Parts: sequence; structure tokens; C-alpha cells
Amino acid sequence: MSRIAVVGCGVVGSSWSLVFARAGFEVAVYDQSAAAVQDTLKFVRSALADLAAQGLFTGDVDTACARLKPAASLEEALAGVDYVQESAPERVEIKRALYAQLDAIAAPGTILASSTSGLPASSFTEHVENRARCLVVHPINPPHLIPLVELVPAPWTDPDVLERAAKIMEAVGQSPIRLSREINGFVVNRLQSALLGEAFRLVEDGLCSAADVDKAVSDGLGLRWFFMGPFETIDLNAQNGVAEYCKNLGPMYYGLAKEQADPREWSAKLVKTVEDERRLTTPATGLPARRSWRDRCLAAFVAAKRRVLAEQEAV
Ligand SMILES: NC(=O)c1ccc[n+]([C@@H]2O[C@H](COP(=O)([O-])OP(=O)(O)OC[C@H]3O[C@@H](n4cnc5c(N)ncnc54)[C@H](O)[C@@H]3O)[C@@H](O)[C@H]2O)c1
Repeated sequence: MSRIAVVGCGVVGSSWSLVFARAGFEVAVYDQSAAAVQDTLKFVRSALADLAAQGLFTGDVDTACARLKPAASLEEALAGVDYVQESAPERVEIKRALYAQLDAIAAPGTILASSTSGLPASSFTEHVENRARCLVVHPINPPHLIPLVELVPAPWTDPDVLERAAKIMEAVGQSPIRLSREINGFVVNRLQSALLGEAFRLVEDGLCSAADVDKAVSDGLGLRWFFMGPFETIDLNAQNGVAEYCKNLGPMYYGLAKEQADPREWSAKLVKTVEDERRLTTPATGLPARRSWRDRCLAAFVAAKRRVLAEQEAV
């Protein structure tokens, strides 16, 4: 495989274009807005330069950018591609219409993968003739810095399509996880939902400030989560591993889970409390600069993670 199409190149599609071009693929870039395609070309050039400055891209920026092929129509974009990464807006009626078009144009065997954050593939591919080639390949924004992707099949997705998509993701340097079936929130947002539910509960009950909840993660849990997940964390937190940890602390966590079992809505009053506190640290006008700071930190941490893990492997 050497040619991929990115269909819809706003926030996520632009970053996907970089991922595929960086990995050496020719990338047909299509958006219904010609201006969005031009913005993507500019974005990829500037983001590749930023990555190079962090040591995260060692190739030639001009060569990588030359792999981007703006397409004036879906037909032009899909010519000769084996894989389509669709990143159109998160509206089911847009995706339903688009998948009918993609399926009619794409060559047999071409994978149609959606970046959707929350729509099950069944909700927009059910009417598609060759729907076995459709699935969700959900990135965490921005995918050129965050490698995780969630692969979620519809009930009719061919298992071979899921495997081929996983291989493509690995080939472009992403880190795929596979779900066995559709579920709301996939994996990442289900985990995030559990954490956010408890974070809001702690603030609502006056146990601590929003800033202290953030600190509990950024100066506590998050340091380990930077390079290992919750299961490996607990495996290493008892002398003899996960079974001993669960024997010792399972009853405590079960008790906590019962306290947390009653889900709460995030009331307007509670959201205002958190909003007011956040604005004291970062005024609304400072949010864009703070986002840029986050992205710079992210790139530096990704570079550091690669270096540190390689050094530790070598020990
Ligand atoms: N933004 C995120 O943080 C994020 C993270 C993960 C996944 N996603 C998912 O990625 C998808 C895109 O999100 P986004 O934030 O990049 O949206 P966006 O609004 O930034 O970009 C969408 C792009 O699609 C184009 N478009 C609209 N209709 C089209 C069509 N029929 N054909 C081709 N292009 C079309 C628009 O012109 C626009 O450039 C959504 O499904 C979203 O849920 C977003």
C-alpha cells in the first residue's frame, strides 16, 4: 500500500495528513472546502518543522510535504487508494451521506475508516452496500503527537478489515487498540468519564478544590500513567503483583465503587464553580496561548518518553 486518502481535513484530518505523509505514504487530501485543504498543507509544513525541532521528525520536510496531493473531488481523492481516513464533522446525517458516496466510488477492498469520537459505525454505515469494509478508527487529538487509536467494528465489519486497519496504524507509527464490539465512549472516553465523574463529585461535595483534583493527577497519578496503565500500575504496587494487590485492596475499591455508583449530572451551579476557579488561573483570553503551551509540552514529553524508554531498555 502506498496511497491513502484523508477526507475532511479540519482539526483532526490535518493532523492525520501529517501522520500518513510522515510515514512515507502518498496522501490524497480532500475537503469540501478548498480553503481547508490549503490550510492543511500549511499546517503540515509548520507542524513538521516543530516536530523536527523536538527531534521527533528526522526526515526532509519538503519531501514529506510533497507527498500531500490536494484533490478537487472525492473521485480524484479515492483513485488508487487502499485506505480512507474520514474526518468529516460529527453529524450522523453528514456521515451517512458521505459513506454512501465513499462506498460508491472506492475500489473494492478499500477500507473506509471514520475518526468519529462517539458515533458507532453502525449508525452511519447500515445502509452502505459494502458495509463490511467500514469501521471506526478513533484518534486522540492531535494524532501526530498522541499515538493511541481505538479500532471499533460495526456488527458487520469484516474481522480482516479490522486487522488490516490495525496493521496500517502500526505502519504509520500509531498505537492501535481493538474493541470486540461497539460501545458508547469506546475505551478512552469511558475511562475519562469515570475519572471526571469522581472529579466533579469531589468538588461538588466540597472535599477539595478543582485545582487540587488537577494536581492529584498532574503531580500524582498522571506521572505513572505517562508510561503505564492502571493494571500495570497495580501489578507493581504489591510485592507479588496484581493478585496480591486485589486481595489486599479489592474490598476497599468495592466500597468506593458503591459510593460512586449513583451517577450525578454536572449541574449548572457545579460547572460554574469549576469554571470560575479555572478562570482565576487561566483567563478566557489566555486559553489559546495555554493550548499552545500544552502542545509544546506534549511534543517535548513525547520526545522525552521515547528517549527515557530507550535508555531504560538498554539498561
Ligand atoms: N477535534 C477533536 O478533538 C477530535 C478528536 C477525535 C476525533 N474527532 C472526530 O474527527 C471528526 C472531525 O472532527 P474535527 O474536529 O476535525 O472537525 P472540523 O469541523 O475541524 O473538520 C471537519 C472538516 O470536514 C469538512 N467537511 C464537511 N463535510 C464534508 C464532506 N461531505 N466531505 C468532505 N469534507 C467535509 C469541513 O469542511 C471541515 O474542514 C469528527 O468525527 C470528530 O468527532 C475529533
